[in-house]
Amino acid sequence: MNILILGGGGREHSLAWAVKQNPKCDRLIVAPGNAGIAQLAECAQIDIENGAALVDFASQNAIDFVIIGPEAPLAAGVADALRDAGFLTFGPSQAAARLEASKAFTKEICDVAQAPTAAYARFDDPQAAKDYIRAQGAPIVVKADGLAAGKGVIVAMDLDEALDAIDDMFGGSFGSAGAEVVIEEFMTGEEASYFILCDGENVLPIGTAQDHKRVGDGDTGPNTGGMGAYSPAPVLSDDIARKALDEIVIPTMQAMADRGTPYQGVLYAGLMIENGQPRLVEYNVRFGDPECQVLMMRLGAQALDLMLATAQGRLDQVSVNWANDHAMTVVMAAQGYPGSYIKGTEINGLDALPQDSHNMCFHAGTQQVDGQIIATGGRVLNVTARGDTLADAQKRAYAMIDQIDWPDGFYRRDIGWRAL
Ligand code: AMP
Ligand code: GLY
Repeated sequence: MNILILGGGGREHSLAWAVKQNPKCDRLIVAPGNAGIAQLAECAQIDIENGAALVDFASQNAIDFVIIGPEAPLAAGVADALRDAGFLTFGPSQAAARLEASKAFTKEICDVAQAPTAAYARFDDPQAAKDYIRAQGAPIVVKADGLAAGKGVIVAMDLDEALDAIDDMFGGSFGSAGAEVVIEEFMTGEEASYFILCDGENVLPIGTAQDHKRVGDGDTGPNTGGMGAYSPAPVLSDDIARKALDEIVIPTMQAMADRGTPYQGVLYAGLMIENGQPRLVEYNVRFGDPECQVLMMRLGAQALDLMLATAQGRLDQVSVNWANDHAMTVVMAAQGYPGSYIKGTEINGLDALPQDSHNMCFHAGTQQVDGQIIATGGRVLNVTARGDTLADAQKRAYAMIDQIDWPDGFYRRDIGWRAL
């Protein structure tokens, strides 16, 4: 079949890598792709948030299956446009994508589903929000309602920080995303991510992961999109995962179906675990980046069969072929990230890296210019490895990093410390 993947980061490189290994895949196109993706698929420059343009492209290229990587096209309704035009598509409708696009919506659904999550209140007026914060006290969490590229959450350890966050959000720092805020109870515990395929009716868990959000070793410094991840997450034991499924995920999916907006795609549940009890931090309506990289490393070619079953509504007929393995990805970023960083620096040594079922260097922000790979983004490479143990995966990942010659990049040296 002819497959189109939307996106151009490390997540999409790992999706393309897994899909390409499946004999069902004949032609693979990724839009827009990147330099790493170009080594295994065709890359196309199309506006991936424009449903009509995508429908034209899919028709012209006889596409049989579309996989949507990032949240922005989902929130823009691209899955609806493609499905309306008859294209089999992996990813939720615009209405179901609100589980990520609106934090207030997610809280409403949790109320209906009676899913354990932080207590909250929502405000569209800054004064009322501040009064509430003063009454609650710190620590407290302030969230812009809408999509804010991962920057719309302020975990305020003191009152001033929380009050400043209100000024920022209502002051327009987050555009329309900040016109409404959700203020939440601060939850303590250990965070983990749970990935579940949902076809509108059935659910199928496909793995757990933990990421490292802070830029520096020891989980210090500013937040990033994620500096590394590993799977499985030991904190999400089978028992706790089962609880999360029964108390949070399945009731949420039921609530979405009941309101006439069934959810189809991968659901990424960010959980806080304390004393054996999972609570929902947030939903994302897509794979995590870089969590996808470790999941794809572990799933390999079957990922395509599972995504097809999701889109075709037959998740009850498939199962995951689990291996007793571990995967880790270490992000290499451009010096300065997550602040302003230099672009256009040369990366060497990639050709000599192993590329097999246990070792892959997925590309995020790269481009090839005159035969040279250059860094074009903040997060640039995702060095990913699989092993019998997490320590083994870690050893392989850092061994690959040692072979990469990129003086303008940096990475954390302690990915996986919590689990190891
Ligand atoms: P979100 O975008 O909702 O995942 O929030 C980003 C990060 O903020 C999460 O991964 C948590 O580390 C933290 N966070 C969000 N909500 C809460 C909460 N209610 N209590 C504690 N930490 C939170
Ligand atoms: N790594 C966090 C995310 O993809 O949202």
